[in-house]
Amino acid sequence: MNERTREAAPAKSTALAERPSDPSAAPSPANRGAPTMRRAAFRSSAEEGRALLQRAPVVHVATTADDGRPILRAVHGVVDGDVLAFHGAPAGEKLDGLGRQAVIAAHEIVAEIPSWFVDPDRACPATTYYVSAQVRGVLEEITAPDVKARVLQALMAKYQPEGRHVPIRSDDPLYAKAVRGLLVAGVRLDEVVCKAKLGQNGRLEERRRVVTQLWRRGGPGDARAVDALVRRFPELTPPLFERGGLRLACMLAASELDEIAPLLDEAYWLAGVPREAVLAAFLASPAVVTARDARTGALVALARATSDGKVAWIYDVVVRDDHRRAGAGTAVMELLLDHPAVRAARHVRLTTRDADGFYRRLGFLELSEAPRHAWRSIEMIRSSPGLAIER
Ligand SMILES: CC(C)(COP(=O)(O)OP(=O)(O)OC[C@H]1O[C@@H](n2cnc3c(N)ncnc32)[C@H](O)[C@@H]1OP(=O)(O)O)[C@@H](O)C(=O)NCCC(=O)NCCS
Repeated sequence: MNERTREAAPAKSTALAERPSDPSAAPSPANRGAPTMRRAAFRSSAEEGRALLQRAPVVHVATTADDGRPILRAVHGVVDGDVLAFHGAPAGEKLDGLGRQAVIAAHEIVAEIPSWFVDPDRACPATTYYVSAQVRGVLEEITAPDVKARVLQALMAKYQPEGRHVPIRSDDPLYAKAVRGLLVAGVRLDEVVCKAKLGQNGRLEERRRVVTQLWRRGGPGDARAVDALVRRFPELTPPLFERGGLRLACMLAASELDEIAPLLDEAYWLAGVPREAVLAAFLASPAVVTARDARTGALVALARATSDGKVAWIYDVVVRDDHRRAGAGTAVMELLLDHPAVRAARHVRLTTRDADGFYRRLGFLELSEAPRHAWRSIEMIRSSPGLAIER
């Protein structure tokens, strides 16, 4: 700790990250009076709060200077063990807060809910669904060079996940001076409060209506909001998402990528396409639909589409072979065609080798049979140079 810290917080003589962590310990005096929540229904777990503070692109640090001046700063935060840490230049206002009480906060907007979703007349139901997290504690400097280096490395991993640099170590001459010179500070994650304000105080039918309305509105982020709400509150699942023993989802979480890979191995058209390219295509697609066996939770079908809102292309429609001819393909396709990113498209296109009968039932025609422009049009393609195409 530096001089300033010692003056302001004499009881805290051990630098933050050097102190052993004891999760069972009672809140420190510094944390007394941790924020309370008026509505218990909105309270979420400390784990969710930590995860939010970790993934937030920026966190806000609020504290005070010696003379009582309020200080508010946006910083890049990272969770290192039991500490939410950030770095900065060893000068400026942030230093004034060291050794003093601070709050670090982050939030994510889930959806803006207009009043008319719920009531045709009154403005009062207008609200915002969000998740927020904050941690309150003493803002302390981290002085141990190896811990500073670890925090700086964790910041690199968060903000430059592709790596492409020499890992930061305090004993590496490449970094020793920088590690010494930078300020690294943080707050212990003893008192994390997380609030998920997602309409839990409303009546069930009202909350269901909000989910359905979000799906119908289909603005930017609305499908994501539907997915977040349905995953958290299965009782809000709209009928279109529950089909004959299947549970459908309208988003693919990055954590599900490992699960979809074996299913895609069954797709003949992906043979020879690098797996990373296929998974990246799924992550980049504005519409992905999955179906799980409602009883076992196993992933049984998926499909994705790209779209500019005017023309959509369907790709990678696959049903696990032991679940075919039981309606899963139709279920994922119907949800995909109703997906906000796809439903307004004037044309929805796809190519298939032999499943044309399946797509015909969903209203697709061969291009030669479809109503055409009066003028001649030639479909063209430019392939990546060097791409070998099997004929
Ligand atoms: C094609 C596929 C997605 C269909 O999914 P599914 O869950 O089996 O289809 P459904 O049960 O919803 O089928 C509904 C109807 O579509 C028709 N159908 C299904 N698969 C078909 C196929 N491969 N060819 C022609 N018609 C088909 C049938 O008429 C079926 O009704 P029926 O079983 O009562 O006769 C699935 O078989 C699959 O994954 N196949 C391998 C991968 C593939 O070819 N994907 C399409 C690439 S473009």
